[in-house]
Amino acid sequence: MLLVAFLPGKCYTSIMFNWNIISFKTVESTNDTARHYPCGTAIIAERQTRGRGRHGRVWQSLEGNLFLSVVLSDWGAKTPLLAFVFGLAVIDALPEIPLRLKWPNDVLWDGAKVAGILLERIDDRVIAGIGVNLNQAPINHVLYPTKALGGFLTPPELANRILACLNTLLTHVQNNGTAWLLAQWTSKASGLGQSITVKLPTETITGIFKTLSPDGALVLSLPNGTEKNISAGDIFL
Ligand code: BTN
Repeated sequence: MLLVAFLPGKCYTSIMFNWNIISFKTVESTNDTARHYPCGTAIIAERQTRGRGRHGRVWQSLEGNLFLSVVLSDWGAKTPLLAFVFGLAVIDALPEIPLRLKWPNDVLWDGAKVAGILLERIDDRVIAGIGVNLNQAPINHVLYPTKALGGFLTPPELANRILACLNTLLTHVQNNGTAWLLAQWTSKASGLGQSITVKLPTETITGIFKTLSPDGALVLSLPNGTEKNISAGDIFL
């Protein structure tokens, strides 16, 4: 495992918010590496040999894509909302592309997944792993169509942009609260007000994606007139 610090003076470090960015050639998973570091650390790797996604799925870690994990303090009961901050940070970091958010943790371009976020809690810290299909899209993805952004940025350039956007977003949330965050997220959401299908561990249900609850659950209006709050699941638009 080769540790390669970002080159000083090349705009890789965010001076304003002092992220400690550590770059690796190859790791199993940047989320696993990040566990050994304190809050304020960002881990980036050129390769992952055992990248993972939500629900224990494999995250195909293809060459030239971004594998970034950030260590933050948790938000107590509101920790799941951090995924919304990271989704928005990816969108804000790529103003060239009309990206949308897909509940809970995905970023879409033209309806295809280009980025995913994995939040893992370790004691009072959260490891937020961000995978962006910058250069290549996984093939044979069983759950959703996928797409790559076209490789117009290098992974370190995109990481640097994301970290800068994260700082701005975290400052806004600190000043304006999580209601602001939810409003921002819903303004960029795919499928809001539309009929969607939600795959839960034991059932698949269809309803209208009405809104988000204050804790970030998806509020689904069911055909029988009731509402169901869903905290975890895969949605299909
Ligand atoms: C998902 O959509 O299921 C979340 C995917 C998260 C992938 C990233 S890549 C960087 C970090 N390291 C991992 O092993 N996973 C996350």
